[in-house]
Amino acid sequence: MQIIITKSSQELAYCAAQHVRKVLEKNANAVLGLPTGTTPITLYKQLVHDYQNDKISFNGVTTFNLDEYVGLPPDHPQSYRSFMNRHLFDHIDIELSRTHVPSGTGTSTETAQTYEAQIKAADGIDLQILGIGRNGHIGFNEPSSSLGSRTRVKTLTTATLIDNKRFFHTNEFQPTMAITMGIATILESRELLLIASGSSKAIAVRAMIEGSISSSCPASALQQHAKVTIIVDQEAAALLSHPEYYQRVRSETEKLREQERVK
Ligand code: F6R
Repeated sequence: MQIIITKSSQELAYCAAQHVRKVLEKNANAVLGLPTGTTPITLYKQLVHDYQNDKISFNGVTTFNLDEYVGLPPDHPQSYRSFMNRHLFDHIDIELSRTHVPSGTGTSTETAQTYEAQIKAADGIDLQILGIGRNGHIGFNEPSSSLGSRTRVKTLTTATLIDNKRFFHTNEFQPTMAITMGIATILESRELLLIASGSSKAIAVRAMIEGSISSSCPASALQQHAKVTIIVDQEAAALLSHPEYYQRVRSETEKLREQERVK
């Protein structure tokens, strides 16, 4: 795991966007896995800014979103399809037909199987970007999710329902279930990039990085993946036991890479 601790959420977005840029520089036809939520909004803003300044193109890119609310049609303002269009897809040169969000209104088993098949047909995900819930969820794999799970419908925990209530008007229908890529689906991606910001994530971030691998903290499953970058701001990193070590690993790895580039 490479752990990057940034001074601010703005620097976090910049670092994460730089990471995405590097992946697309190597492979203009990369397949990206994408999250929704508050944390990626500044990352998406940075990517839109980079696109507008000719630093990045999404022309050949294919995307798969992690999840969608069950019961919300794609054109619902709170659906994750609407979120993605509003924050990213409408502002970059991506072909909409290459952007995938699981259907929240289809038959669940069929939708899940179709989604898995679509990911496979695209030859898998090159870079999966993730956020993390206060309770350690990734996608909507809530605590107690099987570490071997595939795309399926999950019931949202009360903590997640409370956290996401802010997106819905009073008396507006708030879905209590979501269709989400499974943990095994996520771990099959060739590379993972998780971003977390703010003190409300500090306990989950510590459990993910320094806790034992357990379905009680689904994000701890990332410890099993060979290529993971975690970018957290100082507030989210506040409870980590070894921040100095993570910083040193980063600077020494960069030095080594630089020396190899010069050779
Ligand atoms: C949503 C998703 C979730 C969020 C998590 C954090 O697509 O994958 O796991 O990443 O709930 O959300 P924010 O960023 O709103 O704190």
